[in-house]
Amino acid sequence: MDIKKVAALFFSPTYTTKKVVCAIAESAARNIAGAECQLANITTPAMRRETPPFGKGDLVVFGVPVYIGRVPNLLRDFLASIKGNGAIGVPVAVYGNRAYDDALIELRDIMQENGFRCIAAGAFIGEHSFSYTLGGGRPDTSDLETAMKFGEEIARKITSGEAIPAELQVPGNPYPYKFYNAKSSSNSSIDIRKVKPETDPHKCTSCGLCAMLCPMGAIDPSNCAEVPGICIKCGACIKMCRPKAKYFSDPTYLEHKEILERNFTEPRKEPEIFW
Ligand SMILES: Cc1cc2nc3c(=O)[nH]c(=O)nc-3n(C[C@H](O)[C@H](O)[C@H](O)COP(=O)(O)O)c2cc1C
Ligand code: SF4
Ligand code: SF4
Repeated sequence: MDIKKVAALFFSPTYTTKKVVCAIAESAARNIAGAECQLANITTPAMRRETPPFGKGDLVVFGVPVYIGRVPNLLRDFLASIKGNGAIGVPVAVYGNRAYDDALIELRDIMQENGFRCIAAGAFIGEHSFSYTLGGGRPDTSDLETAMKFGEEIARKITSGEAIPAELQVPGNPYPYKFYNAKSSSNSSIDIRKVKPETDPHKCTSCGLCAMLCPMGAIDPSNCAEVPGICIKCGACIKMCRPKAKYFSDPTYLEHKEILERNFTEPRKEPEIFW
């Protein structure tokens, strides 16, 4: 099979998915003669306005972070428009050391239904969007080595002409996929849909970075303290703000974060690869 382009396609507000997908795609491209690696970042609304074209001769490593056990819902329109046209696909789910639940099987199904031939899949761990300690610092050196070896092995299978499975098997429940139902300490369901970040006016320099990075376009670029749009709690504005002016103070959000850190920091989960 002649591969000319390896695409690293990713949605990645806090860059952990980007790191994993790029490590896999760049390593695959290095090991396929004549192939070049191209980045396709779909994190912000402007980046999702056009769907990159794919076809035979392309290898597409497509990574998303796991949100409440699923593929992020905000990508629905983009995912409805993406076409593989016979490209080889590698679905990758990156999760915050709790679980990836049905996200990987959902991404595999989306890719297969849209004309990708899925050769392999991966589940990797990234620092949790809500936390600096849950999955802290991941993907780390060991995770990225696994990602690079995965890329090499994908290249080897493609160049040696090994058959692509008719349906790649990955863990998860088939459709209808389930959302993770997070519980509070009093065992009631946690609902943080309306929560938005706040801004410390003494720290904010009005640099505008948070508005530029927000994957929902939720932050007012002319006054970054205002968040009129929908916030998905992706963590980008919090983690990327250099003076650390953005924060969440909502008690339900903070309780959820603490429960996650308490229950899921240990044991450390390791990357999984599926052929
Ligand atoms: C709204 C939301 C829901 C999440 N749900 C899960 C989850 O169900 N399981 C999990 O392990 N991590 C979960 N995470 C954490 C992310 O999957 C993880 O931090 C990922 O590495 C973030 O990717 P990024 O750096 O590319 O943004 C969630 C994060 C967000 C923002
Ligand atoms: S990134 Fe931080 S400093 Fe810059 S505008 Fe946003 S909140 Fe203010
Ligand atoms: S406002 Fe919400 S959605 Fe936008 S970057 Fe901040 S946490 Fe993410």
